[in-house]
Amino acid sequence: MKRVEPLHPTIDLARLAEISERASAVIDRVRESMLAPEARKTPPRFTAAQLADLCGVDKNKIAYTAKKGKLPPGTKHGQRLEWTLVEARQWVREFRADFLRDPELAGAAVLTVANLKGGVGKTTTTMCLAQRLSLLGHNVLLIDLDPQASLTHLNGILPPEVSDDATVLNLCAGKIDSLLSCVQETYWDGINLIPANNALFNIEFLMPARQRNEDGFEFWRVLENGLDECINKFDVILIDTPPSISYSTLMAISAAQGLILPCPPASLDVASLQQFFSLTTEVLTGLYRSTNTNKVFSFINILINKPERETIATAVRQWITASYAGMILPVEIPKTSIAGTASSVHGTAYDLDASVNQKTLARAITAYDQLGNYVEQQVMAIWSADAESLERVS
Ligand SMILES: Nc1ncnc2c1ncn2[C@@H]1O[C@H](COP(=O)(O)OP(=O)(O)O)[C@@H](O)[C@H]1O
Ligand SMILES: [Mg+2]
Repeated sequence: MKRVEPLHPTIDLARLAEISERASAVIDRVRESMLAPEARKTPPRFTAAQLADLCGVDKNKIAYTAKKGKLPPGTKHGQRLEWTLVEARQWVREFRADFLRDPELAGAAVLTVANLKGGVGKTTTTMCLAQRLSLLGHNVLLIDLDPQASLTHLNGILPPEVSDDATVLNLCAGKIDSLLSCVQETYWDGINLIPANNALFNIEFLMPARQRNEDGFEFWRVLENGLDECINKFDVILIDTPPSISYSTLMAISAAQGLILPCPPASLDVASLQQFFSLTTEVLTGLYRSTNTNKVFSFINILINKPERETIATAVRQWITASYAGMILPVEIPKTSIAGTASSVHGTAYDLDASVNQKTLARAITAYDQLGNYVEQQVMAIWSADAESLERVS
């Protein structure tokens, strides 16, 4: 046998600890630079044209209304007027009153974004949807259920800043009944967040233990029950999940009226989506049957995310259509290079400014705008169904 020298020295546990310490020192340095006050996230500002677009009116109407003095007039930046996010949302809520939830008639629509796989765009989709829906005037609550806390990060909050008490963990441990006390404001007006940190991994141990030990405990209803007090405070609740069929994902799916499943149009991803469907169906059927109940979703949508332009295999597309006819969203999110740029500054397309390629940015924003508009329709249908059943009762 030919003798080969090892390519690397061996690694014992002490050495492993050294490597781990070095890695966390590097991350600490990166975090310190991100925590610097000047690196904190700031929301965008809006021009008259953008404001007119959001309000669904033309620019003259903006100038005319601004003169009447009821709504914020904007601030001059050089030659042009600009509105802050807070101001812009005031305008939008005035002009889009017909599209907003009537708190007397309906509670928040709860939507969960899920998929068995990581990297398919769950977190990006959740954040972009929250941003678009808030720009349409709605108040959104985001819940980060992924111990990796990417959604928390996109909101400009870093894991060391999140105490376990700020997450859904206490609810899952049975220490609190309502999540309202965990809701925090973010840099973005109209988006509130229940953040995550890596202690959320414990949910996967807490839930089976409580299921074994507590009579009548139904782990899958924990999140739904914990949201009772939030339902009337928000218009839309959006839940981002870890890439697994875990206790937390099942809780999030059970709490939801609508599901959005992002999926890249590649054969392995579509196969994984099918697995997600069959496993979730099997588990949920067992859980709900065990209590003689049923679960009805208002909608389940597949979002085709990151298609390579022109090169999507027709066969894969046909495969998705054959499997999920009627569930596929009419909007697809193109694969764009701005995601790379955006994640380097810890944001989405809605956070970016003039420093990135404007054509690419516009392509991404157009797609997310269309997605948000479509989801808004679905949300309004959920509110309407709520209002109808209230009328039937009274
Ligand atoms: N449409 C897109 N085009 C290009 N990159 C994307 C797109 N959507 C998401 N990404 C990138 O893919 C990576 C995984 O996305 P993410 O939303 O974190 O997925 P998940 O939550 O499913 O793990 C991120 O780096 C994100 O910026
Ligand atoms: Mg994610």
